[in-house]
Amino acid sequence: MLPDLITPVPGPRSQQLAARLGEVECRNTTFRSPEWPVFWERAEGVNVWDADGNRYLELTSAFGVATLGHGFTAEAVRHQSRDLLHAMGDVHPARLKVELCERLSAITFESWTGGKGKTLLGNSGFEAVEAALKTAALATRRTGILAFEGAYHGLGYGALLGAGIPWFREPFDNQLARITTLLPFPADETGLDAFRSALANVDGHDIGAVLVEPIQGRGGIIIPPPSFLRELREWCDQTGALLIFDEIFTGLNRTGKRFACEWDGVVPDLVCLGKALSGGFPISACVGKAAVMDAWPETHGEALHTSTFLGNPLGCAMAIAALDEHLKPATTAAAADQGTALHTALMTLSGEPFVTAVRGRGLLQAIELHHPDGRPAGDVAIGIVQELLQQGVLLLPEGPTGHVLAFSPPLGLDAGEIGFAVEWLRQSLRRKNK
Ligand SMILES: Cc1ncc(COP(=O)(O)O)c(C=O)c1O
Repeated sequence: MLPDLITPVPGPRSQQLAARLGEVECRNTTFRSPEWPVFWERAEGVNVWDADGNRYLELTSAFGVATLGHGFTAEAVRHQSRDLLHAMGDVHPARLKVELCERLSAITFESWTGGKGKTLLGNSGFEAVEAALKTAALATRRTGILAFEGAYHGLGYGALLGAGIPWFREPFDNQLARITTLLPFPADETGLDAFRSALANVDGHDIGAVLVEPIQGRGGIIIPPPSFLRELREWCDQTGALLIFDEIFTGLNRTGKRFACEWDGVVPDLVCLGKALSGGFPISACVGKAAVMDAWPETHGEALHTSTFLGNPLGCAMAIAALDEHLKPATTAAAADQGTALHTALMTLSGEPFVTAVRGRGLLQAIELHHPDGRPAGDVAIGIVQELLQQGVLLLPEGPTGHVLAFSPPLGLDAGEIGFAVEWLRQSLRRKNK
């Protein structure tokens, strides 16, 4: 449904809530300004309602979580909450943990290679990354990590080892081990040459993990050339390092395939999943080839890597419901079709002011903005995001300078909704040019 604003945005309730929050939440967390934020009350499909009753068209899937539509897994959680809210993850687990690990194996390594995948569950995405890094350290007995400039893998101390956006790392840099080599992430053939030269200078003997997003999300929706993942695969095969794909953002039908790595037909040793896995519950997974995961010793009652909420039954029930949908070929086909429709509509903005690139795969699309003198136009992008909010369209900027308008809508966006968003975007781009 199209937006329906019944108060100016943000409305009085959102403004009051922002003031109250400012008194009690760490000041580095929720950005507040006269135009920002709106406080969400409920959500369904491609729509969100705020505390003032305004209805928005939601084009982010709330950080890529509601891929199947807001509320898709609500019935699973309602049903599960009648029976069991919590179990003892690595001691006496919920029955559903078994089913979830089976589904995760089926959708990843069984589908890619025919062999089983084994899973370490976590809560947030960054925990899946940390589980993958620990697995690589155990399996290879090497400490070194290769990661990429512009990369985002979450903000835990372990995940920060792979951070390619410097400001996330800087305040804590002197607490982090010097074990990461950052390589340039290629956006085109020139970038591929730079990546190859940098890789040629890496001593492969001490690298245990190569951590990479198949498409960089937070880095600005950067799609590398098709040979990139293949070349990383070959390098890992030659050196003995393990290839970790962080598909926390790109996985589960976000890009018009079940996983972004399927565009290039490259199979990792470990894959990290989160976000869309449950459609709205903090649960994540590091899934690896069985032989790789068996680097973890058999537990004798004291797991080396676990947490209180591991395999939480509500999260498992939601993830099973979501994976059952993601496993259907029709879901992938719908993501591809709707992504094509969105891309085609966004392409009509190509000649508009500031627009220097329109790119994307499936329901992960981006418009890059620059000033006429070539400077990245992060100032314009944030202005547009705020203007669109006033029209009832929720969008976010990405990229190191915030100059990329990112679209990661839920499945189910129709032609009318796409047209509405694109026309407001066009008008906003033109207004910013005056
Ligand atoms: C590619 C990628 N990896 C990891 C993460 C971290 O996930 P979480 O915020 O759930 O810890 C994100 C979050 O945006 C992400 O986009």
